[in-house]
Amino acid sequence: MGKEELMRKLEEKIKNCRKCPLWELRTNAVPGSGSYDAKVMFVGEAPGYWEDQKGLPFVGRAGKVLDELLREIGLSRDEVYITNIVKCRPPENRDPTEEEIKACSPYLDRQIDIIRPKVIVPLGRHSMRYILEKFGFPVEPISKIHGETFEAHTLFGRIVIMPSYHPAAALYRPQIKEELRRDFKKLGELLKGFS
Ligand code: URA
Ligand code: SF4
Repeated sequence: MGKEELMRKLEEKIKNCRKCPLWELRTNAVPGSGSYDAKVMFVGEAPGYWEDQKGLPFVGRAGKVLDELLREIGLSRDEVYITNIVKCRPPENRDPTEEEIKACSPYLDRQIDIIRPKVIVPLGRHSMRYILEKFGFPVEPISKIHGETFEAHTLFGRIVIMPSYHPAAALYRPQIKEELRRDFKKLGELLKGFS
């Protein structure tokens, strides 16, 4: 089976999933969007109000910030892949629980295995923690390690992990926005090495 078919099947499974209680409250599950051949994968936390309404990741205010950051380094949504650790919206946009992450993260693991990105950018500390732990790296405060690169070795080759802040954190904090800009600039440079 090719990537396309594997991803479509997985998306269907996510849309019908009832592995944790979040399914009961969702309007739409949000599997992810973008290219299945993406070199870079962005991993947010969980869908919010608009994501749940539309079934697409990062389409609310945080999404506008992400779009802007991508545009600044010449990337469009069609050439990257964007998803979250948890695929259904937690009530009141609370943080996902450990149980929800545990139930849902196998979907993210599978997306990584199918897409085989060269670079993973966890957005925010929850996503950062999941991804760093998954690949066996110690977790440190995001203020310390955002923009740093970690080289993971997988069955299908090397993956570079570069954590950054969650775009929502930039909404009222210009300093964070600047840090995000700097990290994305670095990402742009990094991706040139993979083209
Ligand atoms: N915040 C996230 O972490 N993910 C989304 O898809 C939207 C907002
Ligand atoms: Fe399934 Fe994940 Fe949705 Fe829970 S959050 S119901 S595990 S898709």
